Amino acid sequence: MTDLEVIRVAAERPYEVHTRAGALELLPDLVGDTERVALLYAPVLRERASALAEGLRARVTMIELPDAEAAKTAEVLVACWDRLAAEGFTRSDLLIALGGGATTDLGGFVAASWLRGIRFVTVPTTVLGMVDAAVGGKTGINISAGKNLVGAFHEPIGVLCDLSLLRTLPEADLRAGMVEAVKCGFIADPVILDLVEEDPVEALRVDSDRLAEIVRRGIAVKARVVSADLREATSKGATVGREILNYGHTLGHAVEKLENYRMRHGEAVGIGMIYVAELARLLGRIDDDLAERHRSVLAALGVPTTYRPDAWPALREAMSLDKKTRGSTLRFVLLNGLGSAEICAGPGEDVLAAAYARFAG
Ligand code: GLY
Repeated sequence: MTDLEVIRVAAERPYEVHTRAGALELLPDLVGDTERVALLYAPVLRERASALAEGLRARVTMIELPDAEAAKTAEVLVACWDRLAAEGFTRSDLLIALGGGATTDLGGFVAASWLRGIRFVTVPTTVLGMVDAAVGGKTGINISAGKNLVGAFHEPIGVLCDLSLLRTLPEADLRAGMVEAVKCGFIADPVILDLVEEDPVEALRVDSDRLAEIVRRGIAVKARVVSADLREATSKGATVGREILNYGHTLGHAVEKLENYRMRHGEAVGIGMIYVAELARLLGRIDDDLAERHRSVLAALGVPTTYRPDAWPALREAMSLDKKTRGSTLRFVLLNGLGSAEICAGPGEDVLAAAYARFAG
């Protein structure tokens, strides 16, 4: 799998995603002779951040962010701008975001907005961050009206997915992160599903070649999708562009909302994928085996495979308010077969409810 140790993203400004254990060694090369670097990091990574800073020739401003989603607020954003202003950051300086998806989302948005855009590097430390958030240039913050409602497309100049960073990731986060890789399996690369099914225990072992290949294949899918449609602008009619990455997310976001965002994103997306598989089965788009495969592969990862049977009315309402809804029309990414997806806009209420009943029944 050496060909996936370096994955190229070729959207507006091409860059590379380095995925080998030890990829962090490449950071000094990416920083080059940049004068000033802001290193934004999650609190649990303080020691790692200090070690990284010592290895750089640049003058480093250390910015410790609040943990997880607490980093993605307007207050934190302003505090970061104030630090960059105080340190005199210019257009030629650079930002590094070290942490999970929330850290790289916030860090990317600081980079996108400071002086209308400076260079940044993402160093994701979670599976979710590697397979999804750190690649593809979506940056942003949450506001009280909803998650990710304010943001910008701003591509990193490089992504270092050092797989050895996953050694300290809590197991539940590892499992939940793998759901995004499994998503990539259903929408584009079924080998990912085979790799999980052949040996789920090894697929979850951080130092295994199997986990490395699953993560790399997931990143490669994301890289291909965002290279073709960085700005999520090409979905037209039933044809799906970057929106394909939202497979399982329409219901998944609603579940997250009902859970007051205390459920892991990957777990909610897993529930959402099993639901849309039921929906696709009822609509005659996929067969029983493919629908069942969703539940069995996610069960093998040890993530939730069902949700409260009585939750449908609340989930339906939450989906109407989701920012991905266009006008009042609900949009789902549905499979037509393994590795083949389309947009289904405005399916009937009866079939939506029937699919939920089958999913949760
Ligand atoms: N997380 C979905 C996307 O990057 O488009």
